[in-house]
Amino acid sequence: MVIAVDGPAGAGKSTVCRRLAQALGVAYLDTGAMYRAVAWALAQCAMDQASDQRMRQELPLLPLEFLIEAGRLRIDWEGSPLGDELRNPSISRMASLVSQRRPVRDFLTQKQRALSRGHDVVAEGRDMTTVVFPDAELKVFLTASDRVRAERRWKEYKEKGLSADLEDILRQIQERDAADSQRVLAPLKPGKDAIILDTSELSIDQVVEQLVRWAMEAR
Ligand code: C5P
Repeated sequence: MVIAVDGPAGAGKSTVCRRLAQALGVAYLDTGAMYRAVAWALAQCAMDQASDQRMRQELPLLPLEFLIEAGRLRIDWEGSPLGDELRNPSISRMASLVSQRRPVRDFLTQKQRALSRGHDVVAEGRDMTTVVFPDAELKVFLTASDRVRAERRWKEYKEKGLSADLEDILRQIQERDAADSQRVLAPLKPGKDAIILDTSELSIDQVVEQLVRWAMEAR
């Protein structure tokens, strides 16, 4: 079974999908982390500006591995897991840039489908409902107003002890949304017959409960 969830930055996808996957006892596939890892890996190898041809040849040769372990995606670089190095605003921007490249999208789309063949998954990203899993049993587009999303990110940073300015975050979110929605390849939009859920006025618990109900109905 595949549950596909898309939406803009800060819509609450990660938290909601992690909890949904736990509630259903299936794996959680964070495809944003895969784009972040590729952005990070390409930067390590000074390949972020490489030609399409070179990227296509060399991406599969990088020491980068994607596995599902204990219900979660694990990303290894040279055999060791990548983690917090993928979670900073400069990697967010780099991921948004490299995700516009066809060799990167083709490479990761194929990896995402391969991971879903061995496992039931809740797959979360920008093109799950449109390109990667258009036939998923359940397709949901999670969204919320720009300001609510910026406030959520701001709280997350605060909780991690990071300093952050709300207006800066709002601007970064809007820039990233514009880049993700206006790109030619796999732009951010709801897939055909995806259910659109605006979470601006909902708590995380309410969103998770709603998704669990829909998933049960779709099973
Ligand atoms: O979800 P997250 O913020 O970690 O994603 C980082 C970036 O990766 C997004 O802004 C988007 O450009 C890209 N992405 C994508 N397709 C996906 C998941 C993420 O293009 N399925």
